[in-house]
Amino acid sequence: MADTLTVIDNRTGKKYELPIQDGTIRALDLRHIKTDADEFGLMTYDPAFMNTANCRSAITYIDGDKGILLYRGYPIEQLAEHSDFLETAYLILFGELPTATQSQAWMHEITLHTMLHENVKKFMEGFQYDAHPMGIFLSTVGALSTFNRDAKNIFDKSSRLRQTQRLIAKVPSIAAYAYRHSVGRPYNYPDNDLSFTGNFLNMLFRMTELKYQPNPVLVRALDVLFILHADHEQNCSTTTMRTIGSSQVDPYSALAGAAAALYGPLHGGANEAVLRMLTEIGTVSKVPEFIKKVKSGEAQSRLMGFGHRVYKSYDPRAKVIKKIADLVFAVTGKNPLLEIALELERIALQDDYFISRKLYPNVDFYSGLIYQAMGFPSEMFPVLFAIPRTAGWIAQWEEMLLDAEQKIARPRQIYIGPPARDYLPRDQRG
Ligand code: CMC
Repeated sequence: MADTLTVIDNRTGKKYELPIQDGTIRALDLRHIKTDADEFGLMTYDPAFMNTANCRSAITYIDGDKGILLYRGYPIEQLAEHSDFLETAYLILFGELPTATQSQAWMHEITLHTMLHENVKKFMEGFQYDAHPMGIFLSTVGALSTFNRDAKNIFDKSSRLRQTQRLIAKVPSIAAYAYRHSVGRPYNYPDNDLSFTGNFLNMLFRMTELKYQPNPVLVRALDVLFILHADHEQNCSTTTMRTIGSSQVDPYSALAGAAAALYGPLHGGANEAVLRMLTEIGTVSKVPEFIKKVKSGEAQSRLMGFGHRVYKSYDPRAKVIKKIADLVFAVTGKNPLLEIALELERIALQDDYFISRKLYPNVDFYSGLIYQAMGFPSEMFPVLFAIPRTAGWIAQWEEMLLDAEQKIARPRQIYIGPPARDYLPRDQRG
């Protein structure tokens, strides 16, 4: 059986053989299909990249129908059970789990880079008192390019490694400063005796105590949540990272763009939207009425935290999160919105509207409830997503840079505007 696709162009009667590789045909092969030699050739039209592979990647594998998610071949459930975020970030960035020596060196390097330049602190102080922490986060990450001018040497491996270490180490510090700024509290410097997530909690929540003692259950929960969010192949923000990076700009500028993409309610802002939705519903008894509203498409309301472009079954990350929720609530007390969430899920999973569209809870359905119980305001949720996703963004950016097939990203369009016409002086316009 030949690995080719036979295409007959009914406009000309001509027959073409297109090679099939890895279940794809090359879009450029279609350009040979034309009605006459001067014509541009056939293109594909694929708004929102519904069926277009934009790269070859060895980082993350998703089988959306079976609910499988692998980082570098390792199932997400195993990483969530046995690994911690820094080790998983190493795996995503460098392709293998670190040995004990590599792990120690990696931890040491990250610890070394957690401090922010004092001018970054001053810069952050300039934001309005009520600025959204995600706005502060993405602007500050972009501003880091002006502090690390060597970052422009993107084809220098050692420079890329330095920026990688800086970014992984500094994003929690930026996130914590953004939070402290938004609640009007002094910024806390990093405590390098603590783990990656323990130190993050210290920078967020330490008040007057000399040494902050993070709760080990919350440290572990945060590690697991960070592992679950570390990469997710070619989603909106990752594609943005690759697209901006393809112009060969420095990684801080590209990452600021990726973080901006993550800010939106259909992507990293979804768990904030879930909490707003649960608060609006208010009581378990109002759940059926809300489901009815979603199904009728009234006011364009959606069941936030449900559905996914790729997963057409239960999101494997949502399963892990549900388990973590119980551990966190045992420490923090139950989030009162949990009952409403459970009832929404129960009704939706047996309703034909959701079943027929294969809409299941995604990673964000329960993550907001956990973050809220841990004391995070909902405005911090996209920031909490951006910290671990930084590992995925950098890995994908570097993979793109080293891929000989990649060029500056530049899609085509179908022009639907007016044909060429002559400029009319203002007094002759009707
Ligand atoms: N509630 C109600 N209906 C929905 C929902 C939802 N959450 N999601 C999709 N649908 C319906 C949609 O109306 C459409 O119905 P119809 O065929 O009758 O027009 C059908 O399901 C297909 O939806 P779509 O919008 O074409 O699907 P998509 O792949 O473009 O959208 C999505 C994926 C995640 C944007 C969407 O499911 C959604 O808006 N979900 C809510 C927001 C959310 O939870 N986002 C977090 C995603 S996971 C975190 C991440 O990776 O960023």
